Amino acid sequence: MTETSTPETQEHGQSEFVVVANRLPVDLERVEGGPDRWKRSPGGLVTALEPVLRSQDGAWVGWTGVADVDVEPFEEGGLRLHPVRLSADEVAEYYEGFSNATLWPLYHDVIVHPDFNRTWWDTYVRVNRRFAEETARTAAHGATVWVQDYQLQLVPQYLRELRPDLLIGFFLHIPFPPVELFMQLPWRREIVQGLLGADLIGFHLPGGAQNFLYLSRRLAGQNASRASVGVRSRMGTVQIDDRTAHVGAFPISIDSAEISKLASSPRVQARAKEIRRDLGHPRRIMLGVDRLDYTKGIDVRLFALRELLAEGRVDADDTVMIQLATPSRERVDSYIKMRGDIEREVGGINGEYSKVGHPAVHYLHRPVPREELIAFYVAADVMLVTPMRDGMNLVAKEYVACRSDLGGALVLSEFTGAASELRSAYLVNPHDLDGVKAALVEALDQTEDEGRRRMRAMRRQVMTFDVDRWARSFLSALGRPDLAEETTA
Ligand code: ADP
Ligand code: F6P
Repeated sequence: MTETSTPETQEHGQSEFVVVANRLPVDLERVEGGPDRWKRSPGGLVTALEPVLRSQDGAWVGWTGVADVDVEPFEEGGLRLHPVRLSADEVAEYYEGFSNATLWPLYHDVIVHPDFNRTWWDTYVRVNRRFAEETARTAAHGATVWVQDYQLQLVPQYLRELRPDLLIGFFLHIPFPPVELFMQLPWRREIVQGLLGADLIGFHLPGGAQNFLYLSRRLAGQNASRASVGVRSRMGTVQIDDRTAHVGAFPISIDSAEISKLASSPRVQARAKEIRRDLGHPRRIMLGVDRLDYTKGIDVRLFALRELLAEGRVDADDTVMIQLATPSRERVDSYIKMRGDIEREVGGINGEYSKVGHPAVHYLHRPVPREELIAFYVAADVMLVTPMRDGMNLVAKEYVACRSDLGGALVLSEFTGAASELRSAYLVNPHDLDGVKAALVEALDQTEDEGRRRMRAMRRQVMTFDVDRWARSFLSALGRPDLAEETTA
């Protein structure tokens, strides 16, 4: 692979619609002595994009999740997957380093300190170039390419250099930070210029779009109009020579109808009852579902529960908490420390408040199959979503989609993107432990009428603004309403 292909020498591929993301929708699993297996990749990006792309017959460029393996492009469930190879050093420096120990904490309110490491940056540049080159080989002439998330912010610029014929969209799945925090980044100008290679740059919330427009003017000296960014409506613009990049807010969602249907199926309903029975028929079940990430505020809900148990406001005899935690970024220091802290806290609560055969907190450190996860949502009386900061949080929307019975209650952090849509949740400030405790008790003790009123309002939102609508609004704004129409097929 050369690092210097020009538009003239670049060979075009066949795909008319290409998604580019750090990970493929499936991760490679190497089993010693057995054949390779592929399993669903973790996280909200895949949850949201997979149903959209499957209905498009598109291609997906991404990493296999394993270092130092070469895999030829292959078909999976109607999708053409194009693996990008990463060496072990690149995984350490581009993925674990710059993406997840620099950008991730910087974009999430510096909950942990971001490391600004020049070697990691060099590797981030090199890997972003490689993704752009693989995409340039995959896309047909005039194709539409949709680049995803913070790991690939330089790809729009590199791809435009290689293939000016392409229509390029970019969507950021995490929060875009306040200007003062973004300005800490030594490579802030390069990142803004990288993103400006796209024709449309999308964020979850209008605030992120406004911050980006301001930075485009300040750092890239571009003429940016920032007056009119609205959710699902008007667009800001940035003028780059004779080209206009559009900037807007597009709150992501889920395949609401599909999840709702699955949740109502006899199999899932029966499994939900079985879960309650296995737990010893508690009066109330609280549930947390997250990647094991320090942004998710898993510690906050554990601290709240511990104090409520100590004060006798919650009784472990009739109330249990389940925390499902998918392993995530397990070699990054801050994640190693957080895992230790959370597991100690779970152990502490169980040591003090459990009875034999009846733990106060059930903690599963593994991904749960989709149908099983939905059965947990159906079984849960109170869903706990308490991030310190989260771009959207699809778990909150999944829970609501599962509750066609209008049962259950959602405790939701104000610092999630979802909070701007789900106003009838029990909204909490995760920094205010007393407030979290009060909301938790209120949700546990809500009357049936109150619960139904809140859930009905939230369901109206989630069932209407689904992932299909999100994709349609983004692709229409990108100038491809035809692609958008096909997603509804
Ligand atoms: P993020 O993208 O930061 O991981 P989201 O809440 O937006 O956060 O998306 C998480 C996705 O991963 C959801 O679709 C959720 O169902 C799934 N998920 C989270 N935890 C688990 C788990 N323990 N088992 C299975 N799926 C999970
Ligand atoms: O948007 C959050 C995100 O980083 C996605 O890019 C990714 O799909 C998900 O979380 C899971 O993270 P990782 O790929 O690092 O396991």
